[in-house]
Amino acid sequence: MSAAPSILLFGKGGQVGWELQRALSLLGPVTAVDFDSTEHCGDFANLAGLADTIRAVRPQVIVNAAAHTAVDKAESEPDFARTLNALAPGVLAEEGARLGASLIHYSTDYVFDGSGDQPWTETDTPAPLSVYGATKLEGEQLIQRSGVRHLILRTSWVYAARGGNFAKTMLRLAGERDKLTVIDDQIGAPTGADLLADVTAHGIRALARQPELSGLYHAVAGGQTSWHGYASFVIEHARRAGVALKTAPDAIAPVPTSAFPTPAKRPHNSRLSTAKLQQALGLQLPHWQQGVARMLDEILPPAPKA
Ligand SMILES: NC(=O)c1ccc[n+]([C@@H]2O[C@H](COP(=O)([O-])OP(=O)(O)OC[C@H]3O[C@@H](n4cnc5c(N)ncnc54)[C@H](OP(=O)(O)O)[C@@H]3O)[C@@H](O)[C@H]2O)c1
Repeated sequence: MSAAPSILLFGKGGQVGWELQRALSLLGPVTAVDFDSTEHCGDFANLAGLADTIRAVRPQVIVNAAAHTAVDKAESEPDFARTLNALAPGVLAEEGARLGASLIHYSTDYVFDGSGDQPWTETDTPAPLSVYGATKLEGEQLIQRSGVRHLILRTSWVYAARGGNFAKTMLRLAGERDKLTVIDDQIGAPTGADLLADVTAHGIRALARQPELSGLYHAVAGGQTSWHGYASFVIEHARRAGVALKTAPDAIAPVPTSAFPTPAKRPHNSRLSTAKLQQALGLQLPHWQQGVARMLDEILPPAPKA
């Protein structure tokens, strides 16, 4: 690969896609597309169009940030979710293999059944509970079978300053209500889209130098928490920043997952071990609180002057 590889980015408008536009711009020329791009097809429902795009652009690196991420909706449209999460990445992989390109792709903690309380490693056996998890797992498998040089980064609980996110929802509710109830029996690591984009840029450079790094990696922020712990941290941080909230810190009640029934089942244990990634890329993944605090400082109004 040349020093400045040409990069084709799919899903440029999503949380991770947006941050990738920034992080990839340092590496080489980036062609970035979305599902409604006109010059090149970026619609994952159009498999032939995706192949045409790759044949026309002839990138050295393909980065796929597009996906069907509506976990509950996927339960009622499994064929569409499979097309976006499995068949389309399969096409990117086949076309990438034919070109000799590398493929960077994202997957999820939802490939696991959430049993136990230990961090899942890359060699643990997946057993998805949901259509989303099953289709993302099939996407991984199609990439692995294609022979394309790849990095599959499994991540969890992704947030970004741009667009809606869990923290913003909690802040809105805490401004409206005296009490909140938040799930405390799902454990994972909130992971910033900016962190994932930066890991991706490092990964692309490392893979170019060491093709033997091709493979599956877990990529999440450090530490672990529950949704309740996450919400409590967000509300406490906002309160310290001077944001007026109705919910007192001791008025956030922990509840089990069963208190909020959803169409898709979610894993209780979403802990992912990142030892393999940190070792392979020589990176240290910062604690989740560091990234969430930074995101909050970006979105919260400035504290009133004393
Ligand atoms: N979000 C999480 O908590 C999470 C957790 C684990 C893993 N991941 C994985 O991380 C990756 C990035 O996720 P994200 O959080 O950035 O998700 P996101 O913000 O939902 O981005 C997904 C992107 O795919 C686009 N898309 C939807 N339908 C499409 C189609 N037919 N053709 C092309 N693009 C289409 C979306 O466009 P619209 O927004 O216009 O629909 C959006 O820009 C995905 O592979 C996801 O599975 C995410």
